[in-house]
Amino acid sequence: MAGAWPGVIEAHRNRLSCVTTDTPVVTLLEGGTPLIPAPRLARRLGDHVDLYLKHEGLNPTASFKDRGMTVAVSKALERGATAGICASTGNTSASAAAYCARAGIQCAVIIPGGKIAQGKLAQVLRHGAKVFAVQGNFDAALRMVRAICSRTQVALLNSLNPDRIEGQKTAAFEVCDSLGRAPDYHALPVGNAGNITSYWKGYREYHASGQIAALPVMLGFQAAGAAPIVEDRIVENPETVATAIRIGNPARREEATRARDESGGLIQSVTDEEILAAYQLLASTEGIFAEPASAATVAGLCKLAAAGFFESSCGRRGRTVVVGVLTGHGLKDPETALRVDGGVIDVPDSVDAVLEFLQLPERPTTGAAARAEDHCDSKTN
Ligand code: F0G
Repeated sequence: MAGAWPGVIEAHRNRLSCVTTDTPVVTLLEGGTPLIPAPRLARRLGDHVDLYLKHEGLNPTASFKDRGMTVAVSKALERGATAGICASTGNTSASAAAYCARAGIQCAVIIPGGKIAQGKLAQVLRHGAKVFAVQGNFDAALRMVRAICSRTQVALLNSLNPDRIEGQKTAAFEVCDSLGRAPDYHALPVGNAGNITSYWKGYREYHASGQIAALPVMLGFQAAGAAPIVEDRIVENPETVATAIRIGNPARREEATRARDESGGLIQSVTDEEILAAYQLLASTEGIFAEPASAATVAGLCKLAAAGFFESSCGRRGRTVVVGVLTGHGLKDPETALRVDGGVIDVPDSVDAVLEFLQLPERPTTGAAARAEDHCDSKTN
């Protein structure tokens, strides 16, 4: 596409049937996120695996929710809405608040009290939404939102709203456009199950119109303490360090199981320990900081690889192409980042004290190598 990135609606307008020339476009130029090769992580999955990470944390409010929100808020405005509402584990509310602010309409959000990450709360407050914290979990908050929508004229901004799914499906198009094909495997975390529904819809549409020759196998990952689809039941008291996916009764459960089954894929669980290990691994080996829920993608892929899952897999020319979605940025959740191992070292203001902790090679004092490093001299600093 020539010129600057125009945002999800303009970039994908011809594939968004709900958007018409009458739709006022509310955008923060979301989408167009990079598909980053992750060669060091790929090696852990197998020598024949090419791994790419779709970093959705690089959207304007730092999560994938912006793709669906641009469409949902634009359509709400077109229908004359003066307010939007959502239940949220954090990211949906941050995105809804930002897009409602952009649209000049009121925003209300209901969150599980004390269970959303600080970065997300900071966003939603500063964007001027009315924030209500309830005792119950996300599922209870969503029940309240549905009841409020049935009694008032307010736009529902959760992914129960089909406009959200339309916007989010565009990420699948971008993955295929970047690769020139669909991946063999597509991995992502599953919470309320809107995202897996959206990706599968996007892939199927691209397949139906001949843009891609084959569909990917969908690999979904839930946190072990919040794994209603894996366990095929409602989890009354979901718990996980990945608060974004702390959900016990996903609204789009049926669509998620359909995506799993139609693609020949799976939805499995990963423990909090596995999530935190993957969270650290991703940040420290690839330089990519994603929030814990996103690390469930990496944890799941590592777990499958350890069980030999990718050994028998092969794509074209013996290479297996895996795409993992990183749904939110690591800065969303500073508490978790600072709780995990690896602290700050307190030292006196002394060079020797710092050097004691570092194993650095000595700097040469003569020859070309020394001259090449002249920029380190104190006089040039
Ligand atoms: N990853 C992150 C960072 C999320 O915020 C969410 C969902 C998911 C994954 C799961 O996506 O629900 O479409 O299956 N967050 C919602 C919220 C529930 O309120 O922000 P899903």
